[in-house]
Amino acid sequence: MHKLKITGGKRLIGEIKISGAKNSALPILAASLLSSKNITLTNVPQLKDISTMLTLLQSMGVEVIFDEKMRLILNAKEIKTFIAPYDLVKTMRASILVLGPLLSRFGEAEVSLPGGCAIGARPVNLHIEGLRAMGADIQVKNGYIMANAKKLYGADYYFPEISVTGTENIMMAAVFAEGKTVIGNAAKEPEISDLADFLRSMGAEIEGDGTDEIIVSGVKKLQESSHEVLPDRIETGTYLAAVAITGGRVLLKNTSSKFLESVIEKFKLAGADIQTGNDWISLDMHEKKLKAVNFETTPYPGFPTDMQAQFCALNTVADGEAEMRETIFENRFQHVVELHRMGANINIKGNTARSVGVPKLKAAPVMATDLRASAGLIIAALAADGETVIDRIYHIDRGYERIEEKLKQLGAIISRDSS
Ligand code: UD1
Repeated sequence: MHKLKITGGKRLIGEIKISGAKNSALPILAASLLSSKNITLTNVPQLKDISTMLTLLQSMGVEVIFDEKMRLILNAKEIKTFIAPYDLVKTMRASILVLGPLLSRFGEAEVSLPGGCAIGARPVNLHIEGLRAMGADIQVKNGYIMANAKKLYGADYYFPEISVTGTENIMMAAVFAEGKTVIGNAAKEPEISDLADFLRSMGAEIEGDGTDEIIVSGVKKLQESSHEVLPDRIETGTYLAAVAITGGRVLLKNTSSKFLESVIEKFKLAGADIQTGNDWISLDMHEKKLKAVNFETTPYPGFPTDMQAQFCALNTVADGEAEMRETIFENRFQHVVELHRMGANINIKGNTARSVGVPKLKAAPVMATDLRASAGLIIAALAADGETVIDRIYHIDRGYERIEEKLKQLGAIISRDSS
């Protein structure tokens, strides 16, 4: 069982490079199934979720090669099976992203239902509904989504609830559909536009990404393409939080502030001095204590649910009281119970957590329950008195590339116990 050991209290100072975005790379990798031509990708982060997606694609027959420059080259000329098995899908919900591309190009897909997940029920009913609107015949049998479509047709599909991967699946399915697909109440996340940019580079016709109406006009074939994955805005926000809680300063390179406005605004309210450039962000706390900040998670461009646990950790030691409302997932406060073990004063009622800042957190053995909860616990541990041991840390490897190395670069006292 992997554990992380962190001795808190060290002010973090330095600079680090941000990796490519997990949530961009995953749909882009799935989209490789749409084409029989070579696809070259750069800035793909080395993460567990990425290797799970590559294993899934390889199991279907996609050729995956890293060239001498560590660019990732994919070729899906010969696909031997359209099945995404339970064993792979259960470890990563984003496996559902192969459904749209398989159906679009081959008219057939069999994808295991992702099942429950630590942060909530997270159904995929809207993915299914959207594909049905395009003419797919979909049955759910023995835990599998069995989808068939001799042909997909452009359709108007309005998402009753905003879904990121749902929007991506319909967008990819529409690439070869006959006619025009109009996706209403589409997700506006930057990762949607990154996928749209990639699909356009292959020859797909897509307009409106970044707004709540995306229009895809079906094409007959795609061409070879190269694409650089967007920087990870959540990794960026996580390191800003890790440094802020220690009163330190940092320069984050290879990133963009453009997609982090709602988060940067909260850091400023918390007392951080933030400067931004074309491809960098710096934060300096000038050794000051944080101020408590209220927030509510909403779809982009609002405050991201994927930053909720990290800000929850900041508020535990900030001056004052804060109200944190989670509106996206129904069970995303599991880190709070663990933060209590470190002395945090937080109360949860329904979808709202209320914190009263304490002068100091104290190290304790804690358990990571999901990816972003792990990030929240690491941030809390960096500010706690003594050595915190975080169990089940494998969750963190799903979404953060070389996290110990990067934190060590900033002076953190952190090590992994793999026994
Ligand atoms: C994506 C991100 C995840 C992020 C989340 C919200 C990826 C790979 N993952 O997850 O990091 O936390 O967006 O920003 O990009 N819903 C339904 N039916 C559906 C689909 C969704 O009811 O068919 C609900 C979900 O239960 C949830 C809400 O819609 O309450 C939003 O979920 P969604 O945007 O789909 O999240 P993911 O795409 O799974």
